[in-house]
Amino acid sequence: ERVAILISGRGSNMDALIAACQKPSFPASIELVISNNPDALGLDSARKAGISTQVIDHHSFGKDRQAHERQIDAALQAHNISTICLAGYMRILTPFLINNWKGRILNIHPSILPLFPGLNTHAKAIQAGMKVHGCTVHIVTEDMDQGPILGQAIVPILPFDTEHTLAQRLLKQEHILYPQVLKNFLRKEPADCSTEALLNG
Ligand code: GRF
Repeated sequence: ERVAILISGRGSNMDALIAACQKPSFPASIELVISNNPDALGLDSARKAGISTQVIDHHSFGKDRQAHERQIDAALQAHNISTICLAGYMRILTPFLINNWKGRILNIHPSILPLFPGLNTHAKAIQAGMKVHGCTVHIVTEDMDQGPILGQAIVPILPFDTEHTLAQRLLKQEHILYPQVLKNFLRKEPADCSTEALLNG
């Protein structure tokens, strides 16, 4: 399977997916990384890993979101991509791209969906007095952060956690969860992505 990753920033989830795909037993290869942000740090590590990268800057398209996505779509087609992973991609996709790639776009979201869709999830979880927090890999549909859930992992929220300490603890789980869910998704196997399975697997 030929996978593309869409990023906007640091790209640590992208790094985790790239590392997983380098293992011979992994049923996919990362063929393309697209960033809407020319300054995304993740572009450097993708290049270092020898992966084709493309910057498709949304600023070049003014308010025309579909024109931006048409260019993304063309790049995906040109690389014969079959599955797309959003990894810190900070743009909401329009129905154009979602429907062209129906059921083939995955996203990782830093909360236990359906709790805390949208931004600032770590602060929201702390603010709500939650004792656990987590991350979710789901299929992207037109309703933001509401597509079918493929896997989740959880971490404790500790008494002195800040957004930052909590985000760091969770990020480690994201890096384990996303490759595992992608593997199961591509093999069409149901994921066993409880935190227990992740920590022991
Ligand atoms: C992660 O927390 C991910 O869950 C969210 O955005 C962050 C991206 O981090 N969607 P990175 O760019 O993968 O390091």
